[in-house]
Amino acid sequence: MSEFSENTAGSRDANYDAGLLRRPRRLRSSVAMRELVAETRLHPSDLILPMFIADKIDAPNEISSMPGVYQHTEDSLLRAVEEAAEAGVRCIDLFGVPVEEDKDHNGSQSWATEGILNRGVRAVRERFGDDVLVMADTCLDEFTDHGHCGVLSTDRFGQTVVDNDATLPCYQQMAVAQAEAGAHIVSPSGMMDGQIAAIRAALDTAGYQDVAIMAYSAKYASAFFGPFRDAVGSSLQGDRRTYQQDPANFRESMLEVDLDVAEGADFVMVKPALPYLDVLSAVKERVDVPVAAYQVSGEYSMIHAAARNGWIDLDAVMMESALSIKRAGADQILTYFAVDLARRCG
Ligand code: PBG
Repeated sequence: MSEFSENTAGSRDANYDAGLLRRPRRLRSSVAMRELVAETRLHPSDLILPMFIADKIDAPNEISSMPGVYQHTEDSLLRAVEEAAEAGVRCIDLFGVPVEEDKDHNGSQSWATEGILNRGVRAVRERFGDDVLVMADTCLDEFTDHGHCGVLSTDRFGQTVVDNDATLPCYQQMAVAQAEAGAHIVSPSGMMDGQIAAIRAALDTAGYQDVAIMAYSAKYASAFFGPFRDAVGSSLQGDRRTYQQDPANFRESMLEVDLDVAEGADFVMVKPALPYLDVLSAVKERVDVPVAAYQVSGEYSMIHAAARNGWIDLDAVMMESALSIKRAGADQILTYFAVDLARRCG
């Protein structure tokens, strides 16, 4: 019996049953109260802005499926990095978009000193030094004429396959070239087995012990990457299901993460973000290294598309999605919303 049950039936006190000793609404009563008890906060320094630099363009080119996201010239890239830094975003993730003629079977422009990505990395590092961290995408897909993340070979049955072990030396050269160009962080996103160990060894041998690795550890073969393929002018036919993970699988991500940590990953990443929050929160529980999540192109484009239709409030959904990703366990969030978010939460 509750201590309140003696009260006269029908009086207001009769409602004060023991069940209502706890009234969670008390702590939701005003903005100040809600902010006082907020368990999760976004901060501009959590955010990483993915950016694109394209070769041989005269002016920045807005990606039609990603409003507000551009293929940059070197000049417009530097201006956009400056703007991001002013908003408090101090890490960018750079992707290169070469011209078609520069693509080849092995993606060799990815490790060429004058390849578009390495030029972009160098320009940002020279301009911003250590004030803005430059992370480079360490993957062949933008640079191969077939669009796969690794090199191809023919197996003993005459089948074309993405050749894991033949790809690793390409990643090694690419990572070393990126480090030489000034990358603070390299980010292998190709999901080849052993890529972290291979890259760590190559960086160390070349004297780049100080360059960190953000491993795309749990990266799914996701249809949410659709708009990104426009962004980089991808040449891919088919899919990446022989190397990226099956969306049906959870435990496999734990294996991938364990391997990457054992191989020397400084950060691990889960990608995409919102559809894989279960994976993200489990990874956060499991490892002691920072855990990043990538809110990918399709997640960004869907929010914009719905907002353009007047179906959702762009700003509110942007904030809620980022907060949810952080609440699930992300220490860092890679997102095309980074600058807008930073302005909202800075
Ligand atoms: C591969 C890479 C991809 C993305 C980041 N790195 C594409 C893919 O794996 O097909 C997707 C990012 C996004 O969708 O925003 N280099």
